[in-house]
Order: sequence, then C-alpha cells, then structure tokens
Amino acid sequence: MRKACFKLLAVLGMVMLMLLPVTTVGAKDLSGDLEIFSWWAGDEGPALEALIKLYKGRHPNVNVINATVTGGSGVNAKAVLKTRMLGGEPPDSFQVHAGQELIGTWVKAERMEDLTFLFKKEGWMKAFPEGLVKLIGTDKGIWSVPVNIHRSNVCWYIPANLKKWGVSAPKTWDDFFAMAPKLKEKGVVPLALAQNWTANHLWESVALASLGPDKWDALWQGKLAFDSAAGVQAWVLFGKVLEFTNDDASSLSWQQATDMVVDGRAAFNVMGDWAAGYLSTTKKLMPGSGFGWVPSPDNGSMFMFLADSFGLPKGSPHRDNAIAWLALLGSREGSDAFNPLKGSISARTDSDLSKYNDYAKSAAADFGKNRIVGSLAHGVTANEGFMNDFASVMEMFLKSKNAQAAAKAAQQIAVKNGIGK
Ligand code: GAL
Repeated sequence: MRKACFKLLAVLGMVMLMLLPVTTVGAKDLSGDLEIFSWWAGDEGPALEALIKLYKGRHPNVNVINATVTGGSGVNAKAVLKTRMLGGEPPDSFQVHAGQELIGTWVKAERMEDLTFLFKKEGWMKAFPEGLVKLIGTDKGIWSVPVNIHRSNVCWYIPANLKKWGVSAPKTWDDFFAMAPKLKEKGVVPLALAQNWTANHLWESVALASLGPDKWDALWQGKLAFDSAAGVQAWVLFGKVLEFTNDDASSLSWQQATDMVVDGRAAFNVMGDWAAGYLSTTKKLMPGSGFGWVPSPDNGSMFMFLADSFGLPKGSPHRDNAIAWLALLGSREGSDAFNPLKGSISARTDSDLSKYNDYAKSAAADFGKNRIVGSLAHGVTANEGFMNDFASVMEMFLKSKNAQAAAKAAQQIAVKNGIGK
C-alpha cells in the first residue's frame, strides 16, 4: 500500500514537472507597455475592451494602452497612423483591414513584419479560411491577424415602425422607390445617411446592385472601366437613391444615422453589421423583434465582406507584448469573446456559434452560401491612395450629382492608384 502510494506520488511529481515549463511559458512574464491603435472608441469600444480584459488576465504585468482615434471606418485614425508610421513612431499593433488597405499600403511600403511564424505556431493555417489568408498574404509572407468578418451590405430597420407606416423591408431598389414617397409624405426620411464615408459605404451596395458581382469584381481587377456604360449606370442609380436621404447627412456619425432609424425619424439605413453590435450591445434591442435586417436592396444572395485585422509594424516598441496580443486575437477564445459584442462573425472556421445572437447566426449562414465580394469602403478592394481620392470624387458627386463626371474621375484615380495592377 505504502509502495503504491510512493509510486503514485512519484508519477504525480513527474507530471507536475512536465507541466511546469508549459505553465511558465504560457504565463511568460511579460511586462511594460502595449499600445493598441484602433478607431474603436466610445460606442464601438465594448468588443475591444472584452479582448483587452482577456489579455490582462493572461498578462497581468503588461500596461495596456488602448489608443483610439474616434471616427467611423477609421477616417481620422488612418491619418494619425500615417503620420506616426512615417515619423518612425509606430504603435505596437494597429487595426487595418484585410485586403488592399493592408497589402497595397503598408506591406507595399515594407512597414510590416511577416507573421508566418505565428500562423504556424498557433495552427492558424487551418483555422482561417484559405481565401482570407490569401487576402492578408503575399508570396513573401502573412501580414496581419484577422479578428472578424463583417458584412457591409445590410439594410436595417425597426419592425414596429415599418408596421406602423404600413411598409415592409425592400428587396429591390424599385421596391424602395415605390414606398419612399409615401414615407416622405408621413414626414419620415426613407433612408438615413451620415458623413462622407457612409456615402461611399452606400455607394458600394448600390454599385453592386447595379453591376452584379462579376462586374464588381472586374472593376477591381482593372477589367472593367469605371467610366464604362455600366460604371456610369451605377452612379445614376446612386443619385436616385440619394434623393431619399436626409439633408444633414454630412454632419452625422454613422451611429447618429442609426439613431434616426431607432427613433422613427428614418425608415432604413444601409450600414455594415457593426450596426448590429450597436443595436444589440449599446441600444439593447433584440435582433428580430427589436431590430430587423435584410440584404441591401438587390444584393439578395451576395455577401459584401470585410475583415478587421491587426498587424505588427516594423519597429513595434514592445514586440513581445504585441505578439502575445496577436496570439490572443487569432485564438478561438479571443475571437468568440470579441465578435458577439461587435456584430461580426468569427474569422475562424471553428467558432462557437452558441455564443452568438440571431443576427450573427444568420450572417454566418449567409457567409456559407452567398457569393462573396469585397468591400471598397473598408479596405478589401482598393489601397489607401484610391480610398482617399475616392472620398473627393464622392464629395464632388454629392454636390454636382453628375454621374458621367464622377465615373470619369473614378477611372482617373483607378489608373493613378494602380487598380488591377
Ligand atoms: C469599419 C470597421 C468596423 C467598424 C466600422 C465603423 O471600417 O471595419 O469594425 O469599426 O468601420 O467604424
């Protein structure tokens, strides 16, 4: 009996010894700062804060600096980031969209570290869809860690309001044009719009409706000119849609446009599914009963996607802390803590859907069966240079409503910024 006891103790001792190095490595004594740079401030913050909480649990001695610059879609943050990167003061890790915003901007400028080592170590080559890994990679490496999949082409509404006004969510733009004058008569703005970038955001769904997915893809491959007949047509349709938006759009944030829908001042809003995060996490509305959604008109079986990711800039001042941050971001635990609050779905193929609400479940189902296309407004299809120039083209169109001129200008900036090259 005593012998057996000793044996058991010896085995236990050995097991503990074997576990020891693992525990030590897992809780490796990281310390110092970690500066995470993003535009997830205020109402956009809860999902990021959940991740930071997890990080602090894993690395209690690290002082996390949550550096945010307010402004939807990173309009202000990206300008600040550029100044810092060019000035040789990169943050430890920063938010960047998968696709051309990353590859055609920061990777092209050779400012990022290759993260292939981390993908191999964490087993991520299999955990993320192959197509997504391609989008964050080149033949020289893998350049960021995706934290989510957002859908950009969604039309939001409040079911009780539609019932009150006797309308239903539009499947097509023709449906919308048929009901919009009636809504206007009741003093309701048919489609809420906010500042410039949300016009770009609306444009991409309208252009997708007008062009269809093949021509949309062809635009970004340089195979279809922006000033072709089909390209001009997209601007014509967009101009028509704008007739039913609010006049004070340029002074509103995307949340304020969503608020117009919630308060019953507007019927619909086309926005990415961070609006689902805002409506459920911040506004505490139930998906389905409290708020409703359909694909943006004439976008039926198409899923326009984007992915937020974080990268490791060369010269990251606290590189080890940043790598631990990236490891958490890409993990199943991190992803499933972040996305249910954010309105997005996990970028991983093994996420625990029981943690997600009905909106996210429907997005996940659509992602599995729809035709997937990339978002312009959120970095997938074009680099920063094109995006900045496109904001000016949009500004011009909002004033002039001249479809021919906008299409021509878009073609010029496509050539200038090497679209399809
Ligand atoms: C997108 C970003 C989303 C959300 C949105 C509004 O560009 O990918 O995560 O933050 O902007 O700010």
